Amino acid sequence: MPWKRRPFTGRDLSAVLNIADLREVARRSVPGFVFEYVEGGAEDEATLHGNRAAFAALKFVPPTLVPTEGRTLATELFGTPMQAPFAIAPTGLNGMLHPQGDVALARAAAAAGIPYTLSTVSTTLLQDVARQAGGRLWMQLYVMRNRAIAEDIMHRAAANGYEALLFTTDANVFGSREWDKRNYSSPGRPRLRAALDVLRHPHWLTQVLLRQGMPRFRNIEAFLPPGAATAVGGSTIIPQMFAPTLAWEDIAWVREHWPHKLLIKGVLTVADAHQAAALGCDGIVLTNHGGRQLDSCVAPIEVLPEIAAAVGGRLRVLIDSGFRRGTDIAKALALGADAVLLGRATLYGLAAAGEEGVASALQMLSIELDRVLGQLSCRSVRDLGPHLLRGPGGIA
Ligand SMILES: Cc1cc2nc3c(=O)[nH]c(=O)nc-3n(C[C@H](O)[C@H](O)[C@H](O)COP(=O)(O)O)c2cc1C
Repeated sequence: MPWKRRPFTGRDLSAVLNIADLREVARRSVPGFVFEYVEGGAEDEATLHGNRAAFAALKFVPPTLVPTEGRTLATELFGTPMQAPFAIAPTGLNGMLHPQGDVALARAAAAAGIPYTLSTVSTTLLQDVARQAGGRLWMQLYVMRNRAIAEDIMHRAAANGYEALLFTTDANVFGSREWDKRNYSSPGRPRLRAALDVLRHPHWLTQVLLRQGMPRFRNIEAFLPPGAATAVGGSTIIPQMFAPTLAWEDIAWVREHWPHKLLIKGVLTVADAHQAAALGCDGIVLTNHGGRQLDSCVAPIEVLPEIAAAVGGRLRVLIDSGFRRGTDIAKALALGADAVLLGRATLYGLAAAGEEGVASALQMLSIELDRVLGQLSCRSVRDLGPHLLRGPGGIA
């Protein structure tokens, strides 16, 4: 028989070698409609795939014969040390992947010495995450038609020690994730096929559904119409509560309610980065929402050099979308990012094995980043720079 590379098929966390392996374990651990919710991108998924292609188009140019013993991933953000230059991105509905959901992610982040960002549409109350996980916490803000929801979130986050607010600005017109939609016959009603698939995942059924009941949007539950508070109902009803009314003038309103660090999550142009700096924001997150919003959108890594050059001295520049390898993180840092947010990479860990799975994702990425630092003749993430990269036109 001819020799053939075979995909990872194990379930044992100790056999997992990379984020792609972890994704496979996650895929087999949860029903298809749950995995599709995590995995899916908008429309033709051109943005989703473009995020990975953009990393592949950037190649390293490594110097050699430089000693790199005693390497470190440690860095700082907003004057506070971080053990590695990444944080966990906000993702809604984490309780659908594992009964511990947000708390498991936050605990793994705290243990790894990095921040965790809780979503507005989380399945755990923000004060419970602070109490049960601790660590360095950031809060993500969605502003819906009813502004009282956002005011309540900002008030509670400030009172519970959250360090930063990530104001998401790219979901006011909600993306169409068609694979996700196909699992529902009408808003809030999963198709029979999706419901039956639950029976093929008895571990998920008992641990997620029977043990705790259908996860609920705890943070905003009090503001939701009847039937929208549970994960299945809300995931199709909540998008209708968003409205394309937000504008730069609203930053002043956010500032009235939020006295701490403020980052705009959704910037992809130099003009918007300048605007964020002019309005006194502390940072920006370059993102296309992991390919879940606008299809055929530029990959954040493609616009990072021009944005970092324009505002890097005035704003902390964070980036996400498509990060799955230590090499991806090194490329972003080399092009001027201060830190990277991890979305699906840590969600795969959560779905595969809860807190232990998230810890595994963070550890694999740390080991990979440390190795690539060494291979690039760097001792610290500060040594990374654009001189180490070649882009498609010969220039990074
Ligand atoms: C399942 C899922 C849920 C998400 N929920 C939110 C959210 O509630 N708020 C938000 O600002 N971004 C949300 N995002 C976007 C992430 O914060 C991040 O931008 C994206 O996951 C990065 O891309 P990556 O998953 O390819 O790393 C979500 C992403 C995923 C995959």
